[in-house]
Amino acid sequence: MDGNGRWASSRGLPRTDGHRAGAKAVRRTVEGARSLGIHTLTLYAFSADNWCRPVAEVGTLMRLFREYLESEVGQCVREGIRLNVVGRRDRLESTLVRAIEIAEAATAGATGLQLRVAIDYSSRDAIVAAAGRGPHIGSPTRDSFSSALAEVVHASGSVPDVDLLIRTGGERRLSDFLLWECAYAELVFVERSWPDFRSQDLVDALEEYSRRDRRFGRITSPATPKPEPAGAGAPR
Ligand code: IPE
Ligand code: MG
Repeated sequence: MDGNGRWASSRGLPRTDGHRAGAKAVRRTVEGARSLGIHTLTLYAFSADNWCRPVAEVGTLMRLFREYLESEVGQCVREGIRLNVVGRRDRLESTLVRAIEIAEAATAGATGLQLRVAIDYSSRDAIVAAAGRGPHIGSPTRDSFSSALAEVVHASGSVPDVDLLIRTGGERRLSDFLLWECAYAELVFVERSWPDFRSQDLVDALEEYSRRDRRFGRITSPATPKPEPAGAGAPR
């Protein structure tokens, strides 16, 4: 979700207004994803590198995250949305950690959209942390490593492969987001800033995705989008 700051600056507003407008785009997008029947939506809200921003901006973002969780949890329960915050928690304020725990517990039984919000997230740090723990050490498999990865980022289930990655704001990079999970992700870059992202942009991205020929290293596309590997080291 990129471009909040530029969206605000281009309107002569403080950057934090861009983040507030971004929160509204989150609501629209979650609703859009739910009504389109998407299984899992992961929103990159705050990277581990975003701690380098001015203290006031970081403080506003953390407050917005807590307010979002507190205000949306009821709606999520009603709509069958399961919330999960992925990333580190040891550097977050205790009030935010509490809001995360409450939201996750309240929606734990939901079977509709799996909404994952990445806060204090670094894919490389998670990979390094996962590499140093778990029973897989010595004889890792993709599955055992994925389980260790899920654990270090507090993922409530496994870490699903990403089918489609959408980045707004005109940049064309991954910025340390879901590097392991994006092995075969289709990438869509949208010029629009995140606060201007509309449900139609999500539909457009899905249409673009449906036009892609996903071969997973083969010559022709497999019948199913994500083939089961024949063995631990099989190409996907
Ligand atoms: C994305 O918008 C929101 C967060 C990273 C929290 P930015 O804040 O990165 O907006 P730009 O890139 O400065 O416009
Ligand atoms: Mg940015």
